[in-house]
Amino acid sequence: MKYNKHKKIILAIDGFSSSGKSTLARAISKKLKYKYLDTGAMYRSIALLAIREKVFNSDLWNIKKFIHLLKKTFQVKWNKKINEIELFLNKKNVKKSEIRSIEVSKKVSFIAKIPDIREILTSIQRNFGVEKGIVVDGRDIGTTVFPKSELKIFLKSSIEVRSYRRYQDIKKTNDNIIYDEVKKDLIYRDIMDINRKNSPLKKSVNAIEIDNTYLNIEKELNIINNLLINKIK
Ligand code: DC
Repeated sequence: MKYNKHKKIILAIDGFSSSGKSTLARAISKKLKYKYLDTGAMYRSIALLAIREKVFNSDLWNIKKFIHLLKKTFQVKWNKKINEIELFLNKKNVKKSEIRSIEVSKKVSFIAKIPDIREILTSIQRNFGVEKGIVVDGRDIGTTVFPKSELKIFLKSSIEVRSYRRYQDIKKTNDNIIYDEVKKDLIYRDIMDINRKNSPLKKSVNAIEIDNTYLNIEKELNIINNLLINKIK
């Protein structure tokens, strides 16, 4: 299928944790030769910073001090080779296995509900979208970060399928992982994502909802391709 190379759009993919957003977003970005922006990785990196700083062990967490530290230590750079972002804390590359750990997953909802942190990350994300030609996944992309994006997808799938996917993902680097613990964490994060005051997970009015419980990635890509035909012509 041919796309108009001269027309660049923003494709927003929002949805529940482990609903397959990043797999889909990455596949589409490769196909279109677009950038791919994983906004969840940004929130996860900040959660990792907070864990390292032991802020969760302290009753006297000073948000102002933490924001100051965040601005000093957190960096997002574009890696042109892979067309994706690279995240740094204190100039050290943040490893995928570190931010996708169950420990970070458990704490990230707390970080994601802090308005000052959302404001900083939203601004970084918007800058990457200035020239369009980008696929962005997250929770608030279609509603808050890029409300004017040309195509918005909202992904969902059953809690069992999502838990199993995340379990398999973590198991690659952690043999001690327990399925029930992963499922409990996802249920907790769903509740936190939907109910937070600031930019909650919500289907944008003009987003197209896809339930991929019984869909494989090829079928899902077919659906998206058909939607893209109308958008990039
Ligand atoms: O997509 P993910 O599971 O890697 O996201 C990790 C967490 O970050 C998720 O629990 C909610 C939060 N998040 C958010 O609040 N807004 C985004 N745009 C992306 C992620």
